[in-house]
Amino acid sequence: MRPSASQSVCRGWLAAAIGALALIASACGSGRSAGTAFVIGYSQCNKAEPWRTAMDNSLKAEAAKHPELEIRYADAQQDNSKQVADVESFLRQHIDLLIISPNEAKPLTAIVKRVYDSGIPVIILDRGIEGDSYTQFIGADNREIGKAAGTYAAELLGGRGAIVEIKGLPGSPPAIDRSEGFRDAIRAYPDIHIVADPVADWLRDKGREQAEAALRAHDHVDLVYGHNDPMAMGAYLAATAMNRQGLRIIGIDGLPGPEGGAKAVLDGKLDATFLYPNCGKEAIETAVKILHKEPVPKQLRLQTARITKANAAQFVGQ
Ligand code: FRU
Repeated sequence: MRPSASQSVCRGWLAAAIGALALIASACGSGRSAGTAFVIGYSQCNKAEPWRTAMDNSLKAEAAKHPELEIRYADAQQDNSKQVADVESFLRQHIDLLIISPNEAKPLTAIVKRVYDSGIPVIILDRGIEGDSYTQFIGADNREIGKAAGTYAAELLGGRGAIVEIKGLPGSPPAIDRSEGFRDAIRAYPDIHIVADPVADWLRDKGREQAEAALRAHDHVDLVYGHNDPMAMGAYLAATAMNRQGLRIIGIDGLPGPEGGAKAVLDGKLDATFLYPNCGKEAIETAVKILHKEPVPKQLRLQTARITKANAAQFVGQ
């Protein structure tokens, strides 16, 4: 039996009402603010270090140019399981895209893959994961940076000397690549030796403790290579307190500003640092492209630069 005209009107009204309710329910589910077209979950591995603050600031500044974006922020405080929980929470909030800088590769791989496999685009910043379950990786080539640091160390040492290498968090790919690249470069110099290579987890205070222990254990050290500027600065503080003059120190990051690595080079506290761009601005540029269905390359490689006393001034103000 065909429905009467009044029955069809009634059904049409009911369908519209149900549709509207579903829309309201889904908007409530994601807690989307009015006027927001896209919700981005931004999972930062920690915000205690200055380089991370620089990343957060440039990402937020770029996002501010796009009122259609809502950024939800989570700080994992250098804790892998907290970062997994942060991303799980983003999934429950029905984000449209994930930006993540993973604390360590292996423990974050499964959750990132889960997000990606569920159809949500993923942008990975600075520290990779295992495999290729992501939309784009943004970062500089840490192996190249390590090599450039090794080549410069050999130059500073005139091809001979004892080095202490202070390493970052062992499961984070930049620590592995910065070490391997450095070792590749100094392999050509049989009279250069790494006499100690302690781990200081990217942290200045740990870097200072480890440098102190290494300098105490070895009367003769010519150069300290820190995988980042905070650990290199820790070594500078240790060497100064222990009166170990003449020690050469190299770091990585080259942040601008009065507390940054570039200023430390200008002031002669570090002999060199290598710029490690923070990826924040590029992350939003890529996110906007992905959300508007534009194709993006799998890798976006950012440029590094060697910063010595000769060019440090130009990096301090950047
Ligand atoms: C900050 C940091 C930087 C370093 C990068 C490596 O957390 O340690 O200093 O360059 O992470 O991922």
